[in-house]
Amino acid sequence: MSALDIAVLGAGVVGTNLARRFAELGHAVTFGARDVASGKVLAALDAVEGASALPIADAVAAADIAVLAVPYGAIGDVLGAIGDPADTVLVDATNPVGESLPDGAASIVDIIHERHPSAQVVKAFNTIGAEAYLEPRTDAGAYFLPIAGPSGAAERVRDLAAAMGFDALVIGDVDAAPLLESHAQLWIHLAFRTGLGRGFGFVRV
Ligand SMILES: NC(=O)c1ccc[n+]([C@@H]2O[C@H](COP(=O)([O-])OP(=O)(O)OC[C@H]3O[C@@H](n4cnc5c(N)ncnc54)[C@H](OP(=O)(O)O)[C@@H]3O)[C@@H](O)[C@H]2O)c1
Repeated sequence: MSALDIAVLGAGVVGTNLARRFAELGHAVTFGARDVASGKVLAALDAVEGASALPIADAVAAADIAVLAVPYGAIGDVLGAIGDPADTVLVDATNPVGESLPDGAASIVDIIHERHPSAQVVKAFNTIGAEAYLEPRTDAGAYFLPIAGPSGAAERVRDLAAAMGFDALVIGDVDAAPLLESHAQLWIHLAFRTGLGRGFGFVRV
């Protein structure tokens, strides 16, 4: 696929590992941050060759794809900071871990659409531990990565995930996003409550 401008909003393990892989594939990565000199952002810039950091609105405005990779409690702040994402596909990698969605929202995608009704939002990368972004396969095969979003945008994200090495499948439009958040809850349960560990992932046979 041709090189993309990708904004990564969040410089924790999710944002950093996704950014590393995107950069390795030749994409231009910009972290969008509330503070471009925070400790996490500086560490992420050290970890991701060629990456830069900008205020959130500037990073999104210049991006083909912007990945939301912040804690659930920070989503409102970030959505307020991004401006109009009309020409940018928003990829939602977040999960409402231990939190309740607001009344009327079936998934975090609904929260995003409430703030930015015409945004193209694709739910992806939320269903597996962040280590898998760097090594998305085991001896059994590539990890299965379900994706939900509108036609066109979802396939762009699928192609990006496939280039990373995932077995990526578009399972439907954003009405399937709640399934991906449930899938993430299942992964968390299996990894931490049943002791399968963070290296666990689903493989399609
Ligand atoms: N951990 C996993 O394996 C995993 C896997 C899949 C999905 N997820 C989901 O991915 C998301 C990110 O996870 P993570 O572990 O990478 O998170 P994290 O380390 O807690 O993310 C921290 C980043 O979020 C930014 N942030 C926090 N509050 C903010 C605010 N109010 N406004 C703007 N930015 C803010 C921080 O900015 P500063 O640099 O300024 O502090 C920091 O860069 C979560 O929703 C999580 O559920 C996690």
